Amino acid sequence: MTRIHRFADLETLSRAAARALVEDIQSRLAVQDRYTLALAGGSTPQRLYERLGAEAAGPLPWERLHLFWGDERYVPPTDPRSNHRLVQRTLLADAPCPAANVHPIPTDRTPPETAAAAYEQTLRRFFADRGATFDTVLLGLGADAHTASLFPETPALGQTDDWVRVVEAPPRHDVSTRISCTLPVLNGARQAIFLAAGPRKRAAVHRVLNERDKSLPATHVQPRSQLDWYLDRACWPPKHD
Ligand code: 6PG
Repeated sequence: MTRIHRFADLETLSRAAARALVEDIQSRLAVQDRYTLALAGGSTPQRLYERLGAEAAGPLPWERLHLFWGDERYVPPTDPRSNHRLVQRTLLADAPCPAANVHPIPTDRTPPETAAAAYEQTLRRFFADRGATFDTVLLGLGADAHTASLFPETPALGQTDDWVRVVEAPPRHDVSTRISCTLPVLNGARQAIFLAAGPRKRAAVHRVLNERDKSLPATHVQPRSQLDWYLDRACWPPKHD
């Protein structure tokens, strides 16, 4: 099922998403041992991560929470463009999350294919098969409607047995070499949460949600149970209702 949630701005969107995520984590951990969360890159989730890390939406059982990434730029974790660095400086800045529970994509391996293979092994160690992967995967949306590092005009939609692959982003993106979970792995999640805000994303959101444009990888994100879109009014104006 797909649910669309609209908010006045990114701050209220982030607060609501943090609340919903904490509630889901707490309820699932009442019936299972651990919770696996794949994090989105980019800048949109920053405020959400800050609120989760500060437990502003409620306490989190960090020792039972495992953090992954849906994709990563192939740069060192100290690089300002690193998705891992964003999480280290926000969600993990103060949270007592055990280091063993944090599973970044290892961009210190060369060539990038080695890093992708190492991350795939990490995922295979956690998930018996790619049909049932993360409890939740957080996803952003680019202005070109890419998500994770699955870009339109690339083989992102092709059938693949890979769980993780090296992707060369189109020239307009600031880091060309990326490492990304494939669609089957993203769709193996129980639920997916898209976060998008700002007028720059309006056309992309419209193409996915209204036009269901099948040329866009984001249109093919169909998790096992629940798909939620957290949008602000700037990218999802009321007239869409
Ligand atoms: C990345 C992300 C990517 C991101 C979108 C939106 O590594 O860049 O995984 O999919 O979520 O590009 O980025 P913003 O939130 O910065 O607009």
